[in-house]
Amino acid sequence: MINLAVLGYGIVGSGVVEVIKKNSSSITMRAGEEVAVKKILDIRDFPDSPDRDLLTKNADDVFSDPEISIVVETIGGAGIAYEFTKRALNLGKHVVTSNKELVATHGPELLRLAMEKGVHYLFEASVGGGIPIIRPLHQCLAANEINGVTGILNGTTNYILTQMKREGKDFATALKGAQENGYAEADPTADIEGQDACRKIAILSSIAYNEYVDYRKIPTEGITKISLEDMQYAEAMDASIKLVGMSRKIEDKIYARVSPVMVSREHPLSNVEDVFNAIVVSGNALGDAMFYGRGAGKLPTASAVVADVIDIVKHLDSNSRYLWNVNSEENMVDPGAVEGKYFIRIKTSNSEEAKKAAEKLFGEITWIKARKLKSEDEMAFVTDSFSENQMQEAVEALNGVDAVSEVINRIRVLEA
Ligand code: HSE
Repeated sequence: MINLAVLGYGIVGSGVVEVIKKNSSSITMRAGEEVAVKKILDIRDFPDSPDRDLLTKNADDVFSDPEISIVVETIGGAGIAYEFTKRALNLGKHVVTSNKELVATHGPELLRLAMEKGVHYLFEASVGGGIPIIRPLHQCLAANEINGVTGILNGTTNYILTQMKREGKDFATALKGAQENGYAEADPTADIEGQDACRKIAILSSIAYNEYVDYRKIPTEGITKISLEDMQYAEAMDASIKLVGMSRKIEDKIYARVSPVMVSREHPLSNVEDVFNAIVVSGNALGDAMFYGRGAGKLPTASAVVADVIDIVKHLDSNSRYLWNVNSEENMVDPGAVEGKYFIRIKTSNSEEAKKAAEKLFGEITWIKARKLKSEDEMAFVTDSFSENQMQEAVEALNGVDAVSEVINRIRVLEA
């Protein structure tokens, strides 16, 4: 019998306990041994929980128990979760986590520690909820040089954008729905401002390019400026607005970004809706492969955690197979120099003059008419390819034109 402890009895932690109980016989069959939760650590009280007999507030009940060989960390954040993870690894206990913040921040150190102590540190559930993506990147795609990763990596924001598009719901109502479904982080700022997706693309990129990608260096924008009007323009462009995390290998450096983008209907990511996530990985032998599934929520995420537990039980005598090299040189491309097309929406008091100014500043542009929008004082267009820096300069210049009262929004267009 393999005993494990669950640290943090929140949505994912309680899901892990539930999945282990519910699928006990198939887990035993696949792992080759019975797996049982011996302790659950949480400082909160859960008097009505079916697992109350396993709950403790005393960390020593976990760390001083030699029978507990696997620790599941579902606390979240990089505070106490970091301390507990180091403590467990130092004691020779394997650790499984869904904590993307911790992996993205301290991944290199924790993976090294796990290797030194001869144990596993696995984090399949940290990206894409229930979608297998970490293990395929490490193992099934290992023969490829990976040159790009593009994904919808946050279930909460994809759910919000889908609700706005399909049901015409406003942002706040859609966010409330995501919270009620258990998709959002305890503080949903990390979801809607893009930081959650940023940590996830940093983790995927670190694996894809075999070197640590520091999430703090990834330019990140969330979806708080996206309005129902933007969605109507997207419809007129035969596109959807999605929050996308992407990275590319450009020569020997890495370019990464998180932002809302216009995704044309032909792109496989455009039909990924609700809480679903999808990740397109481009390899030099395989070409493109897409991974798709539920990106957040209690049981999908718990199932990825339990899969890691089973993997550990099957390989108890080996240690963590992964290390992230930290490049001492700057390994990120200057994002301001990278080119792309932009959708730009402006408010104007004189459409003829505004049109002339936009064409002078942006050259070849395509004007977009949104049928359902009645406003006479608004115009929108898609630019040709511009670097981020050139686009910023042109937007500032456009803002200074008399006939343009405001540049309302600008959204990148995802290249095919
Ligand atoms: N808040 C995250 C999301 C949970 O919405 O994707 C899964 O990592």
